[in-house]
Amino acid sequence: MPRPRMPATTAAVCVLALAATRVVANPVVRRASPTWEGGYYNPTSNGGQWLTAARDTYPAGLGEPINVVISSESDGVLMFDEGFFDYSQSLQFSASCLGQSGGLEQEANLGDGNGMHNQSGLLRENFGDPGFGTCRETFEGGYHYRFWRQNGTAANSGAWFLAASQEQDLAAQHDITPNGYDIGRDEVVRRAVASGGTKSPLTNRTFTATARNASGIGYYANVSTSEINHGVGTDGVVMILTVKVTSNGSAPSLGASSSGASQTLVPSRFTLAQLLGTAALTLFAVGILV
Ligand SMILES: *[C@@H]1O[C@H](CO)[C@@H](O)[C@H](O)[C@H]1NC(C)=O
Ligand SMILES: *[C@@H]1O[C@H](CO)[C@@H](O)[C@H](O)[C@H]1NC(C)=O
Ligand SMILES: *[C@@H]1O[C@H](CO)[C@@H](O)[C@H](O)[C@H]1NC(C)=O
Ligand SMILES: *[C@@H]1O[C@H](CO)[C@@H](O)[C@H](O)[C@H]1NC(C)=O
Ligand SMILES: *[C@@H]1O[C@H](CO)[C@@H](O)[C@H](O)[C@H]1NC(C)=O
Ligand SMILES: *[C@@H]1O[C@H](CO)[C@@H](O)[C@H](O)[C@H]1NC(C)=O
Repeated sequence: MPRPRMPATTAAVCVLALAATRVVANPVVRRASPTWEGGYYNPTSNGGQWLTAARDTYPAGLGEPINVVISSESDGVLMFDEGFFDYSQSLQFSASCLGQSGGLEQEANLGDGNGMHNQSGLLRENFGDPGFGTCRETFEGGYHYRFWRQNGTAANSGAWFLAASQEQDLAAQHDITPNGYDIGRDEVVRRAVASGGTKSPLTNRTFTATARNASGIGYYANVSTSEINHGVGTDGVVMILTVKVTSNGSAPSLGASSSGASQTLVPSRFTLAQLLGTAALTLFAVGILV
């Protein structure tokens, strides 16, 4: 899908807006129904689904697989937006290039009472460069994930639901590579469970994760490839990650006292002037390619 063009000033404003992400805490409330799966509720047990709803698909109404869950049995740090973003940094995923939305947003219904609603965001492979690496992903393609949080009052687990995939480069309009959903999922999991754990370059916070899988009835048993965007199939496995924090590094403490705090997603060593300069270069390059 082509990226919309953005003026440099709009891009800079988006970056600054991203920097204002706030902390939201969500208690885990367990109920008999919807079905508790240990760290999340199964969306299909309460009117939701594992497939997203993509926009402007051909034919209409196709979706993409939600294929990774970060369980609410993870460390409490992961239950804050900052903790989730910091963990993503440790997997080398960060906010999209200069705040671009990353194409059309997709909707999902996690069966938590919030119904179909837009993704909370999209994080891209940053190639180990938390500042501008995702711009490289925008041109070259690679891994990304859209994410939603299961925090509606009907199934308030606090778990994160990720639709991970591997996409082609900009010239190929960011189509999904053959088998790109399963490949994207497996890459996220491969990084997460790497021996020795993972470390956020922004905070030096360190993590370890365990993975288990879920599939079959209640997952993708009833989903056919013809319902999936780009006609790319899936083996139907959802990987469930449970993440522990092994050290907080230099990260500021998260908790009730930090509920008004904000943490920038862009390293502070990058000045606004640098961001604007890069935005201009990026838009110039987009202009050549598109
Ligand atoms: C979801 O995002 C699309 C743009 O991708 C926007 O047009 C739409 O208004 C959004 N829906 C909601 C409920 O925010
Ligand atoms: C649910 O989680 C999303 C993502 O963290 C957040 O933006 C939203 O405010 C949360 N909603 C509630 C009711 O806490
Ligand atoms: C992370 O740790 C390294 C090595 O100890 C140190 O040089 C660096 O300043 C630390 N960075 C942060 C953000 O804490
Ligand atoms: C799912 O888990 C089972 C049992 O742990 C394992 O045998 C199987 O290989 C796993 N499948 C995938 C796709 O990871
Ligand atoms: C999903 O598949 C299962 C087993 O094949 C079947 O029992 C169930 O009725 C199907 N549900 C729907 C909504 O098609
Ligand atoms: C990390 O910090 C959080 C508060 O932000 C705290 O609850 C947790 O115990 C700390 N974890 C470690 C391993 O120090």
